[in-house]
Amino acid sequence: MKKFQRILILIPFSFIIIYFIYYSTSEPTRTIKINSKNEFLKKIIDLNQKLLNNLSNSNNLPKENKIYTNLKDIINLKFNQHNIFLIDLNLIKNLSNSTEFKPKWISFGINFENFESFYRTISNEQFPQCDLTLSSGEYFATNVLSALYIKCPFSTIQISIFYTRKNFLWIPQDNYSNKNEKFFNDKPRAFNKFDLKQIDYLDFKLKIPFDLDQFLYEYKNSVFLECDYETAEQNSILYGSKNEQKKQKNELALKKLKNVKSILEGFRKDYWLAEGSLLGWYRDCGIIPHTHDTDLGMFIEDFEPKVKEKFRGDKITPLIAQFGNLNDSYELRVGSNDFWVDIFYFHEHNSTHFYCGYQLGRTKHRTILTKFDKICSVELLNEKFQVPCEAVRYIHEEYDKDDWKVPRSNYKGWPNVFKWGQWSEQEYPYVIKFYGNDGKFLKAQTLNYVNNLLSKKLKSLPVDD
Ligand SMILES: *[C@@H]1O[C@H](CO)[C@@H](O)[C@H](O)[C@H]1NC(C)=O
Ligand SMILES: *[C@@H]1O[C@H](CO)[C@@H](O)[C@H](O)[C@H]1NC(C)=O
Ligand SMILES: *[C@@H]1O[C@H](CO)[C@@H](O)[C@H](O)[C@H]1NC(C)=O
Ligand SMILES: *[C@@H]1O[C@H](CO)[C@@H](O)[C@H](O)[C@H]1NC(C)=O
Ligand SMILES: *[C@@H]1O[C@H](CO)[C@@H](O)[C@H](O)[C@H]1NC(C)=O
Ligand SMILES: *[C@@H]1O[C@H](CO)[C@@H](O)[C@H](O)[C@H]1NC(C)=O
Repeated sequence: MKKFQRILILIPFSFIIIYFIYYSTSEPTRTIKINSKNEFLKKIIDLNQKLLNNLSNSNNLPKENKIYTNLKDIINLKFNQHNIFLIDLNLIKNLSNSTEFKPKWISFGINFENFESFYRTISNEQFPQCDLTLSSGEYFATNVLSALYIKCPFSTIQISIFYTRKNFLWIPQDNYSNKNEKFFNDKPRAFNKFDLKQIDYLDFKLKIPFDLDQFLYEYKNSVFLECDYETAEQNSILYGSKNEQKKQKNELALKKLKNVKSILEGFRKDYWLAEGSLLGWYRDCGIIPHTHDTDLGMFIEDFEPKVKEKFRGDKITPLIAQFGNLNDSYELRVGSNDFWVDIFYFHEHNSTHFYCGYQLGRTKHRTILTKFDKICSVELLNEKFQVPCEAVRYIHEEYDKDDWKVPRSNYKGWPNVFKWGQWSEQEYPYVIKFYGNDGKFLKAQTLNYVNNLLSKKLKSLPVDD
């Protein structure tokens, strides 16, 4: 096992330089520094080095007599005690109906914080038929510890290391090969922090994620993407304080986005950062400093009235407006009139997805993108949020190719926005609705707004809500 502990950790030279540039010119009150990769990279290098040092210091302890020769003992005696939890998708989905438990391959997770003591104890115990491999994967030209593989005649056990990354969990990828699909360490992935519970399953004592449905929902969207640190760093040097992250704005945006995230994730709905919010995450590794709102997208197929109802009267992000119909240009606006979150619903058409980016009077516009279906995870303002996996293609389509790299407060390009038609005088009274912070439909305001754009004024609205 010794040889696996000698893992080379390289600190790229560029990292040191960039780190120096950022931290030597701080101006902490008004603005905050960009969310640089270096913070997490530095943390992970540091943690890995400490862990490896700690392990090599305790290498020469005498072997204990404990001998593990079957899966049941390994799980019940060893894993349970060290808070190692089952994350194997096949088994998690099967916990209620399986009568047999003889997996050839089985995946577990462990928080990094628990890894050292676990690894130290197994290093002094005996697994006579098994081969232990501590593996690492590449992350920004650095090797990071990724998982421990215990290959035995009865099963191969994967124990993936979950790192605390800001306010969520992150799992690196590695190259350990497996005949069947590897569900973890195949790609970098991320999860919200979660609790564990213990269950008895056949004659196994297992720790599992407390909310398995939530875990499976998050897994689906868990592949982790990094923002474009290079562009963010370059822009920070080129444009300096003009393009620096604004602390107050970020706090406002975070409070609202976090609340919307928790509502949508609570319903297990796919959503993604859209428009300027997607661009801000990727290009600035933050929130565009001159933005006035944030934008999310959702698939119209995922609409359920209970989502809208949940926002009505919500304390942090109350529904303030609804635009369009479920079959055309549907949008929910939540938050407050000085800073809101727009939730645009995306409709599928042929090989495209479109949504109504904005209405001007009764004129509808359509924003058209290549169809997508995969959702991934990212870090924004220390939290995990979701984006389309093909985020870069999406950004290229929404903004002129590569032009998006330059921050502009007066951007007017939008090459994929088209005028799509007019709401008729008959339709219009149905497609605008304003709501109060208490969730009540604001009839008078809505009527007033609608009448401004109608030639034949209405005495009352044809809809109630
Ligand atoms: C290394 O050992 C020290 C002392 O036991 C402990 O405080 C620390 O958390 C360990 N570091 C890691 C990364 O495991
Ligand atoms: C086991 O149960 C789950 C639902 O709990 C079901 O989706 C799955 O098809 C079942 N598998 C078998 C093999 O019966
Ligand atoms: C799931 O449960 C079914 C029915 O008990 C069993 O046939 C199947 O092998 C189980 N699958 C896994 C991956 O354990
Ligand atoms: C996996 O292996 C390939 C080549 O064998 C290498 O280029 C790549 O960087 C490795 N990836 C990781 C995550 O270690
Ligand atoms: C869209 O929905 C509205 C309101 O439900 C309805 O009046 C209209 O006919 C629908 N349009 C189409 C094209 O289905
Ligand atoms: C797209 O859909 C429309 C119907 O709305 C159809 O007339 C058209 O042929 C489709 N185009 C392609 C390329 O499939």
